[in-house]
Amino acid sequence: MSKPTVLITGAGIGIGHCSALAFAAAGYHVYVTDVLDKEGAETVSAIEAAGGTAAFHHVDVTDTGNVNAAVKAAEAATGALDAVVANAGIAHKVLLDDMSDEKWAHTLDVDLSGVFRLCRAASPAMRAEGRGAIVALSSVMGTTYGWHDHVQYNAAKSGVVGLVRGLACDLGTDGVRINGLAPGFIKTAQALSTVHSVGMPGLEAAAKYVPLGRYGEPEDIADVILFLCSDGARYMTGQTIIVDGGLTVGRY
Ligand SMILES: NC(=O)c1ccc[n+]([C@@H]2O[C@H](COP(=O)([O-])OP(=O)(O)OC[C@H]3O[C@@H](n4cnc5c(N)ncnc54)[C@H](O)[C@@H]3O)[C@@H](O)[C@H]2O)c1
Repeated sequence: MSKPTVLITGAGIGIGHCSALAFAAAGYHVYVTDVLDKEGAETVSAIEAAGGTAAFHHVDVTDTGNVNAAVKAAEAATGALDAVVANAGIAHKVLLDDMSDEKWAHTLDVDLSGVFRLCRAASPAMRAEGRGAIVALSSVMGTTYGWHDHVQYNAAKSGVVGLVRGLACDLGTDGVRINGLAPGFIKTAQALSTVHSVGMPGLEAAAKYVPLGRYGEPEDIADVILFLCSDGARYMTGQTIIVDGGLTVGRY
């Protein structure tokens, strides 16, 4: 295929969905993946309606077979991926007293091991081609803040920062770049959940502490993910970039 290609996890809704649209608008063929089949298909339809091209694969990032199969299918169709976005994530509220091994492990499995599985599957062909870029989603809860009742999320998202550093060293000599992106408060299903996160009132309250004066929209993150995969970011690797409207540099 003459178009560059990108594979995105969790691309049915939220930041992944907006990233899929942004890559398609920039001329990429998009491999949309998610556990949400209906929403994934809707992302493909939205891309096609806008004149782009995309295909859906069901991928649960906790399933190595799923991840490997989707990457292999993409490579068989269009060759080594040009860009990979490890976006899928969960943020479950769990009181410390209720933190079973299973609850701890589940978040680590999705938010950290899921990123690793995707990088492990996609990087060999990218290295063989001597090019490509990967972006992994961390969080300001991984780079900067603690979050009560979410210690497993803090640990997983901090883990992404270290994983990005290590993989940058392994992949850089073969011309493959990897960077992390740590969003602040972004209006998606994850943040809007009043059970697991801050909900709309929490987003509005947080906006008061954001120097740019508002909470983020998923498009604010998608545009930076696209930049990190572009030639403009050709000398960047191993970094986790905070995109939070200035939240973490404010002093109140
Ligand atoms: N929204 C925020 O404020 C915020 C802040 C910091 C970091 N993040 C991170 O950004 C990323 C995108 O989050 P979002 O805000 O768009 O959330 P979202 O809940 O809107 O979307 C998350 C996506 O991940 C998918 N997903 C969940 N578990 C999966 C699994 N096992 N396998 C495959 N896909 C799975 C979901 O189906 C969904 O499509 C996540 O990694 C999240 O932790 C979000």
